[in-house]
Amino acid sequence: MPATLPDGEPVPRSGELPEAALARAGRRGFGVYLHVPFCASRCGYCDFNTYTPAESGLDQSDYVTAALAEIDLARRVLPAAGPVRTVFVGGGTPTLLPAADLSRLLDAVDKAWGLAGDAEVTTEANPESVDPAMLKSLHDSGFTRISLGMQSTAPHVLQLLDRRHTPGRAAQAALEAREAGFEHVNLDLIYGTPGETGEDFAGSLRAAIDAGVDHVSAYALIVEDGTRLAARIRRGEVPMPSDDVAADRYLAADEALSGAGLDWYEVSNWAAGDAARCAHNLLYWTGGDWWGIGPGAHSHVGGVRWWNVKRPAQYAQRLHNGESPGAGRELLSDEDVYVEDVMLRLRLRSGFPLAELTGGGPAAARTALDDGLLDGSAYADGRAVLTLRGRLLADAVIRDLLT
Ligand SMILES: C[S@@+](CC[C@H](N)C(=O)[O-])C[C@H]1O[C@@H](n2cnc3c(N)ncnc32)[C@H](O)[C@@H]1O
Ligand code: SF4
Repeated sequence: MPATLPDGEPVPRSGELPEAALARAGRRGFGVYLHVPFCASRCGYCDFNTYTPAESGLDQSDYVTAALAEIDLARRVLPAAGPVRTVFVGGGTPTLLPAADLSRLLDAVDKAWGLAGDAEVTTEANPESVDPAMLKSLHDSGFTRISLGMQSTAPHVLQLLDRRHTPGRAAQAALEAREAGFEHVNLDLIYGTPGETGEDFAGSLRAAIDAGVDHVSAYALIVEDGTRLAARIRRGEVPMPSDDVAADRYLAADEALSGAGLDWYEVSNWAAGDAARCAHNLLYWTGGDWWGIGPGAHSHVGGVRWWNVKRPAQYAQRLHNGESPGAGRELLSDEDVYVEDVMLRLRLRSGFPLAELTGGGPAAARTALDDGLLDGSAYADGRAVLTLRGRLLADAVIRDLLT
């Protein structure tokens, strides 16, 4: 979620969508994202739309009331989008809410549109904010997948990132999730934190693999403008993360994870087979539709993208007044859709069909093939698929294909 929301046209108070968007809604699948904007404390590197209880200006129970009201509004605007294939509760720290509240929100989504029989229902969780009883309640109430923020097992890295959990807690929580019945468990790792050594990261990878999870996400630490981390780097207290180190760490991640049977399916995501892939993220990456519930949440339905007001209290007030919490929206042009499609699908292992490239794209793909950045056999089959070296340079390849 970007810190600064783009401008755009206003969202009608009713939240209603253009007829053309309604007609196209759900053609490539429909999911629901629920944003829970609370964290016990803020990590210095994070610019997600999240607040400590003291900052938020909204009780957690009032947030739940408001989110239920937005689900009701969404159902009235979009009655026929279901069934819902994926639900993703993210944050923030969703597991600061009691399991009963998360269950109420999920029930409301089910009542609004119907959950598909095989729906994937994920919640993010901070390792220190779950215990076996809560995990069991979540599983019993229909959650099928847990995504835990592990980040690292090196104490000095966790400290620099302001993480509250001990080095071993994330792997322990993953084991508890599996014991509670979760077949699908993800661990998020961050690499390239200043002060992290190759051995530190190898230890984090080993711990994630030994926890027996079926999915790992690993992202380079991004220094986001306006964060405490950015200020510390500006003051010279912490060095800037290095791109070369990040590339080394990426190669280490791919080697360790693929060696353990977790194969890449998106540049930063590895899974143990098709069923372990995150269907919700795949919906985002393949042009699906979703309604984003919650402060600052983004939605995309039938070629319209909109975003909610960010402040929790303003969000709740809008819904209390019977109004959409939408802050702005834009109608995507064919060009916007194409650019986004190339940017997202080229990062997938399934790649992008060469025949759909336009302008200078086909020539750039040929050059990327010659430079070893696209896979030869996939190219012969008509697809642009990144090689390992191509994955390290994904942004540059995407830029070239969009010339
Ligand atoms: C928004 S968090 C939600 C999960 C949960 N609150 C937690 O932190 O454990 C989702 C993930 O985004 C990643 N993330 C957030 N800010 C990041 C940054 N600046 N650079 C890299 N990864 C980041 C972290 O790996 C985190 O686990
Ligand atoms: S990384 Fe997770 S716990 Fe930390 S501030 Fe961001 S959302 Fe909250």
